[in-house]
Amino acid sequence: MPERLAICPGSFDPLTNGHETIIRRGLALFDRVIVAVTFNPRKTPFFSVEARKQMVRDVFPDEPRLEVDELNGLLARWASDKGAACILRGLRAPSDFEYELQMAQMNRHLHPQLDTVFLASEADGSYVSSSLVREVFVLGGDVSDLVPAPVLAAMKARS
Ligand code: COA
Repeated sequence: MPERLAICPGSFDPLTNGHETIIRRGLALFDRVIVAVTFNPRKTPFFSVEARKQMVRDVFPDEPRLEVDELNGLLARWASDKGAACILRGLRAPSDFEYELQMAQMNRHLHPQLDTVFLASEADGSYVSSSLVREVFVLGGDVSDLVPAPVLAAMKARS
């Protein structure tokens, strides 16, 4: 059986509990998952890409089937070069779907063998996004039940 590899891409600035769950569920479905941390030029970064990669490693310290890498450039080509069968994304709400469908179709247009698998996020985290977590944190709000403990520690260390 060929290895089933999934790429889980995103800004992860920072990784939230919702992201963690999607990655864990991906590990249950695939032989290996590569978390691809992207630099999104449309977003002002809070953490460097290296810091974001370290956070993922800290949240999954003993998971040999998980790899963390940096993605610069075209996801479809990158995923294809890695031999990935699919891209793994979470859907929090119907509003995510339009954007995600467009990306999935574009990626498939670019690399027809590449599928996108969507996992429905846990309902209790559907309102959470990284930018909202950052905003609440910077304004002194409690985000301790929205992000994994190593991420909270990194946020506190940064401020
Ligand atoms: N739990 C919590 N938050 C979640 C979530 C979940 N399960 N799923 C998504 N989100 C949030 C993220 O926190 C993020 O919030 P933010 O906007 O406040 O930062 C938002 O949803 C979506 O961001 P993210 O998942 O990081 O994706 P993105 O829109 O920054 O980037 C890529 C998506 C990486 C897939 C896309 O930009 C890409 O493919 N880049 C590579 C270049 C490329 O190939 N472009 C052509 C694409 S067709």
